[in-house]
Order: sequence, then structure tokens, then C-alpha cells
Amino acid sequence: MNIQQIINRNMDPSLMKEHGKIPWDDPQISRRMLREHLSQRYDAASRRTKLIKKHVDWIHHFVLADQPSKILDLGCGPGLYSSRLAEFGHECEGIDFSPASIEYASTKAIQKKLACVYRHEDIRTANYGVDFDLVMFVFSEFNTFEPEDACLILAKSFQALKPGGKILLEVPSFDAVEQLGNQPSVWYSEKNGLFSDEPYLCLTESFWNEEDAIAIERYYVIEETNKDINLYINCTQAYEESQFISLMKSAGFRDIDFYPSLTGSQNQQLDGMFVIIASKSTAEERRCSI
Ligand SMILES: C[S@@+](CC[C@H](N)C(=O)[O-])C[C@H]1O[C@@H](n2cnc3c(N)ncnc32)[C@H](O)[C@@H]1O
Repeated sequence: MNIQQIINRNMDPSLMKEHGKIPWDDPQISRRMLREHLSQRYDAASRRTKLIKKHVDWIHHFVLADQPSKILDLGCGPGLYSSRLAEFGHECEGIDFSPASIEYASTKAIQKKLACVYRHEDIRTANYGVDFDLVMFVFSEFNTFEPEDACLILAKSFQALKPGGKILLEVPSFDAVEQLGNQPSVWYSEKNGLFSDEPYLCLTESFWNEEDAIAIERYYVIEETNKDINLYINCTQAYEESQFISLMKSAGFRDIDFYPSLTGSQNQQLDGMFVIIASKSTAEERRCSI
């Protein structure tokens, strides 16, 4: 796109019907994103190791009651959770469509001889397999899917679990998503970063589509050597707690509990996320409506 197209862009969130997502599966973005996942400077793509260790402790002791379990990690990234869960004796599978993350996770699992298998697939279309004790999906990614896909992911997770198995979702609160959509516009420069290996400027703006409860973030990337301005869009769907409960129930889950964080206690980071844990019911009702 060019500057004229930016000037003429739609600024009315009620007319923004696209459900955009940054292409994390693009090999170049994936390669650059891996750096962000592994960075110990901030909790951006993944949390830093110190916090992940606390989360893994809670999952092992509280959620899995120290019992060796079969775990499916959706959107596993470079396997920072599943590899540590495997060190506690669990058998893990991870699915992610980011090629660099899956390669990193697989290499580490082989090097450390971990009981982990990683698959490079899209969780909307992947076959999840069966007989899992836990399906986990952390760090808010669930809300970046369109509601139909979110329902599909829950239904597939339900199918993948043993009776009595659990799903663990870490999701953003409705207010956190609304705040995301109401962020002020900012711009920043990078010598090289997530969007390019070349120097670039990134202009970002956010919108809150109140009617559909969606936060829309737009990133306009202006590279020094490229006349075309690249636009990336990321949408996040907001759900009230009651809507999460409906989604879970529609997928067949029962015993739906909420926790303030992945350590079980009040979030120190004030990141606006919370945790939902539910069990597989025996009645396999998967009709999904919110
Ligand atoms: C915020 S990151 C979290 C990664 C990891 N769970 C962690 O906390 O370290 C979200 C992950 O979801 C993956 N992802 C997003 N959409 C996906 C899809 N449709 N299929 C598979 N993976 C997906 C991304 O590639 C990314 O690795």
C-alpha cells in the first residue's frame, strides 16, 4: 500500500469486518518471532523463563496433581512450557504453525531426550489425536481466533481428551481486550525487528469495535528500501466470563473453574489474563453457540 491509501483508510471500527492475524506461520516472521519468544528482556511472545517455571510448577502440582500425564500444548511456540512439563515426567505433544518455533522445540527435545513430539500444523485443521489428560492453550492466543474457529478448537480439544481429562485456557479479560482496542496510536523505529531485517518505521493504531467486541490493531511497516508499505492486522475477540462458560459448555465441558493466573494466585504482572480449567463431560454435546 502507499501513503495515499493510508490517508484514505477506513477509520470506522463498525465497518471493519476483517478478522486479521499477523502471519506467524510466514517463515521470515516466524524466524524473527523466535528471537522474541526466547528473549529474556520482556514477556512479549512468551514469558521469561523465571515465570514459565512458576507456571509449569502450578500445572504439574495443582492441575495434574503430580500424576504423570499426557499433555497436548496448542500454539506451543518453541515448547517453553511443554519441554519443562516433560522434565516432570509428562508425555507432551505440541502443535504450532510457526516453522522456526517447531524446529527449535523439536531440536531441544531430541538434544535433551524429552518425551515431547512437536508438529508443524495449523490447530484449526490439525488432527489432535486422542487420550490426553490435559489440553493447554496459554498466553491469550485463543482470543485471536474468530468465534467459529474458537468453537472448533474447543470441540477438537474435547475429542482429544480422555473422559475426566481437563482443558486449560489462559485468556484475556473482556476489559483487557477493550483496552487493547483503545490504545493510542504510536510509532517506533527498528534497525531490524519482527517485521523486517531491514531498518523500518512502524506506525500502529488500534480500534475497538464495540458491536462485535473486537480489538483491531494495525501495523503499517515502512522499510527504508521498499516503496510498498506493508500492513499487518491483528484482531482479538473479547468474551465476558459468561460467554466463556457458554463456549465451554457448548463444547461439552463441565466443572468450569476460573483462576486469577497460571500460578493460581493474583497476577503480579497485571497483564489482564486469567485461567479457565474445565473437565471433559461424559455427554459429548458439541453444539456451539455464544
Ligand atoms: C503468544 S504465542 C505463545 C506461545 C507459547 N504458548 C508460549 O506461551 O510460549 C502464540 C503461539 O500460537 C501460535 N499460533 C497462532 N495461531 C496458530 C494456528 N492457527 N495454528 C497453530 N499455531 C498457532 C503462534 O505461532 C505462536 O507460537
